[in-house]
Amino acid sequence: MMLELKNLKKSYGNKEALKPLNLQLSSGIYGLLGPNGAGKSTFMKLISMLLEPSGGEILFDGKDIRVLKKDFLKVLGYMPQQTCLYPEFGVLEYLYYIGALKGMERKVLFGAAEELLEKVRLSNVKNQKIKTLSGGMQQRLMLAQALLNQPKMVILDEPTAGLDPKKRIEMRNLIAEYARDRIIIIATHVVSDVELIANKILMLDHGSLVAENTAWELTEQLNGRVFEMELNVPLEKLEARYKVSSVCHRKGNIYAKVIVGEEEKQPENGKEVYPDLEDVYLCYFGGEE
Ligand SMILES: Nc1ncnc2c1ncn2[C@@H]1O[C@H](COP(=O)(O)OP(=O)(O)OP(=O)(O)O)[C@@H](O)[C@H]1O
Ligand SMILES: [Mg+2]
Repeated sequence: MMLELKNLKKSYGNKEALKPLNLQLSSGIYGLLGPNGAGKSTFMKLISMLLEPSGGEILFDGKDIRVLKKDFLKVLGYMPQQTCLYPEFGVLEYLYYIGALKGMERKVLFGAAEELLEKVRLSNVKNQKIKTLSGGMQQRLMLAQALLNQPKMVILDEPTAGLDPKKRIEMRNLIAEYARDRIIIIATHVVSDVELIANKILMLDHGSLVAENTAWELTEQLNGRVFEMELNVPLEKLEARYKVSSVCHRKGNIYAKVIVGEEEKQPENGKEVYPDLEDVYLCYFGGEE
């Protein structure tokens, strides 16, 4: 299975939201990172056929998705960034409705709906109206509708927004479980959502793809440049000198993790630590958010 983007681009008026992009995706999980306005949702809406590209094409197993149309939509699951739920619908009723739209066979649909509600932990509210659910519950229902038809291509736009830490981990594990023989793309601001499960990290910056690597390759690039030190000067002073990736309290002391420039040497009183993907993110997008 292969999804190929060829010179894909999108402008809104004269705003270039996505600059000509070339990319090949095979089965696995892709984590799409980038600051607000980078073009993540635009990218995902193009693949979901909700937007017409301004140029270029998208091929699924060698065929243009605009030619495949219905046949592509049948294998696609999309979870939008904004809620797409109908508040007056019941939870189970909503999944039946979506399944019918996707042309699923009744028996398959009934089974899949119950099974997914179990997986996203909504079985106990399956007969309630959607408007009575909490934000996090609605988020999980949106994931369920995206996975309903066993899609080959799964597009998730900020799937963990508004989830508590435990549900966030559950959602991450559920997505990882679904990844076999599927292409899954997850856009997120929460680096830890994808750090562990993504086979590849895609980074978008102002509509351009600036990185396409494994998390390991990306963190490797920062080896020897991340240090932890006790914070004994005002934070602003440290920030003037280094990229400060995090500050933490431990046993009454405050520590800062800093990233030094490529040519810079180890800060005195700094202890080298392993870089993580959040450090990488900060390195790429440090000045922007
Ligand atoms: N319908 C639209 N009309 C005009 N400009 C748009 C439209 N949708 C998006 N944009 C612009 O295109 C750029 C990319 O937007 P997009 O929503 O793809 O970013 P994003 O990476 O998903 O951001 P976020 O992290 O905030 O969700 C932004 O500058 C945005 O203002
Ligand atoms: Mg977005």
